Amino acid sequence: MKRLWLAIVVMVAGLVGSAALAQGVTLHISCGAVGNELALCKSESEAWAQKTGNTVVVVSTPNSSTDRLALYQQQLAAQSDSIDVYQIDVVWPGILGDYFVDLSKYFSQSDLSAYIPALIQNDNVGGKQVAIPWFNDAGLLYYRTDLLKKYGFSGPPKTWAELTTMAQKIQAGERAAGNSKFWGYVWQGNAYEGLTCDALEWVYSYGGGTIVDSKGNITIDNAKAAAAINMAKSWVGTISPPGVTSYQEEDARGVWQVGNAAFMRNWPYAYAPGQSADSPIKDKFGVEALPSATADGQHAATLGGWQLAVSRFSKHQAAAADLVKYLTSAQVETDRAVQGSFLPSRLAIYDAPQVEQQNPFIHQLKPVFASAVARPATVTKQKYNQVSSAFWTAVHNVLTGQAQANQALAGLKQQLTRIKGAGW
Ligand code: GLC
Repeated sequence: MKRLWLAIVVMVAGLVGSAALAQGVTLHISCGAVGNELALCKSESEAWAQKTGNTVVVVSTPNSSTDRLALYQQQLAAQSDSIDVYQIDVVWPGILGDYFVDLSKYFSQSDLSAYIPALIQNDNVGGKQVAIPWFNDAGLLYYRTDLLKKYGFSGPPKTWAELTTMAQKIQAGERAAGNSKFWGYVWQGNAYEGLTCDALEWVYSYGGGTIVDSKGNITIDNAKAAAAINMAKSWVGTISPPGVTSYQEEDARGVWQVGNAAFMRNWPYAYAPGQSADSPIKDKFGVEALPSATADGQHAATLGGWQLAVSRFSKHQAAAADLVKYLTSAQVETDRAVQGSFLPSRLAIYDAPQVEQQNPFIHQLKPVFASAVARPATVTKQKYNQVSSAFWTAVHNVLTGQAQANQALAGLKQQLTRIKGAGW
C-alpha cells in the first residue's frame, strides 16, 4: 500500500512538473557565435524566457571548438553550476557525457524519434541520452558564380585539380585587374579542430581513410593520405594566402564575404550572412559538394554539428531541459534554417517550403549531408581530442613546411599507437 501511494505521489509530481514549470528561474546557456549564431541564440532564448516567465543569460564562448572544449572541461571538472545548458560539438558526447543529465527523462521516445536517428545515436552514450541534436553541419564548397562565368567556366570544379587550375586563373585575372588582395581559395588551416575537419575531407576524398577506422585500427599512415596533404600544402602561398595556416571559419568567411576569394571551404552557416542585404557577394555565389581526387572519385564532407546538453551541476535541470526542448523544436529549427542557414537536426525541415525558398541548398544538397564522413570520435571515445590534436598538429607541420607529409604521418601513427595504448 505504502508503495502504491509512493507511486501515485511520484506520478502526480511528474505531471505537475511537466505541466507547471518553475518560474522566475535564471538559466545560463553557452552558445557559439559564428555568422548569425549568437543573435539567433539570444532571440530564441529570450522567446522561451518570455513564454515561461524565466530569464536566460546567453554566455558567448570561443568560436574555436578546441578552445571551447578546454573551457567546458574546466567548468565541468570544477562542478560549476554557472552554465546550465551547454552547446556541445558532435564529437564530444564521449568526452563530456558523464557531466550531463540523461535527457530521456524529459524527452519521450516519440519526441526523440523526430530527430535524425544517427544524431540521436551519436548523442546516446551507453544508453544515456546525454544531449539532443540541435543542428547538423557538413563541409561545403562555396564558389563565385559571377567569376566562374567571367573566366569562362561552366560550373564549379569536380576535382581538386580543377579547383586549383580555376583558382589560379581567376586569382591571376582579378589581380591583374587591380585587386591585389584577391585569393583563389580560402579554408581553415589553423592548428585546431577545424583543420582536422578540412584535412579529413582531403584525405578521405583521396581514398586515404578516416585516420582511425570504425574498428579502431590506425589507418592514417598511407600514401593516399600523404598525397592529399601534399596537395593542400601546395595551395599555401599560391592560391591560398600564406596566413591560411592560422585561419578559422570566420577568418575564411571574412576574406570571402568582402569579395576577395573565388572559392571557400566552410560550413552551411556562411550562406545566410553571404546573402544578407549588405553583403557584397549577395546573389553572386553558389554552394556544392567539395571536389574529389578524380572525376569519378568520392566527394567528402566532414560531418559536424552541435547538440544541447544539460549540466548535472545545474540547479534547474527541468527548466534547462525545457529550454533545450524549445530550442530544438520544429518551429525554432525552421526559423534557424531560414535566418541562419543552419541545417536542422529534424529531417522533415529540409523540405520545408520557406527553407527551400530562402536557402535552397539545404534541400538540394541533402544527399551530401546524408553521406557526410564522421570523425573517429565514437570509436576513440574519451581519447578523441588527443587523436584529433595529434592529427591536426601533424597536418599543420606539413602545411607550414616543418615536415614532409610521409614523415609526419609515420610519426603520427606512432603517436596514435601510444595514445591508443591497450585500447580506445
Ligand atoms: C563546426 C562543426 C563542428 C567542428 C567545428 C570545427 O562548428 O559543426 O563539428 O568541430 O566546426 O571548427
